[in-house]
Amino acid sequence: MSSHILPAILFVCLGNICRSPLAEGVFRQQAGNAGLAVNVDSAGTGGWHIGSPPDPRAIAVAADNGIDIGRLAGRQVQPQDFFDFDYVIAMDTDNLKNLRQLRPLTATARLILGFDLVAGRQGDAVADPYYGDRAGFTQTFDDVALIAAALVQHLTNASRAVR
Ligand code: 4NP
Repeated sequence: MSSHILPAILFVCLGNICRSPLAEGVFRQQAGNAGLAVNVDSAGTGGWHIGSPPDPRAIAVAADNGIDIGRLAGRQVQPQDFFDFDYVIAMDTDNLKNLRQLRPLTATARLILGFDLVAGRQGDAVADPYYGDRAGFTQTFDDVALIAAALVQHLTNASRAVR
């Protein structure tokens, strides 16, 4: 972990109103359950939803799982994020491609496709649920919960290694 006191994780999707706020919320919950202190945030590669709360369907599926994401506000990812966070986690390969283009040459953050953390799911995408139905948001929640669990496991192992 670079210079931060706590591991800092940024989840990134396209709009920052569906996938990445769900990832932020479920990761915060899982890290808390694991007794792991973290800084966590989310952002979008696009700027359409700056300042907006998450999509109501994302808020609803989070609430179904005991997680409140209703007060999050959309923001756009920026080059400085590659210094402020230890891990920048892309939801799909378009996000990853856009993030590679934005990433400063001297970036300190590790840039990772979310499902590359999950055994047997390398290269998979968290599908964009925006134009789909409510069931799509349940799938999104399950996907980001798998990624969050793998990341909690990874960070737990990493913090043990330096003790
Ligand atoms: P997200 O979903 O990237 O998971 O937040 C989207 C939300 C909004 C748009 C696209 C994807 N949009 O085009 O406005």
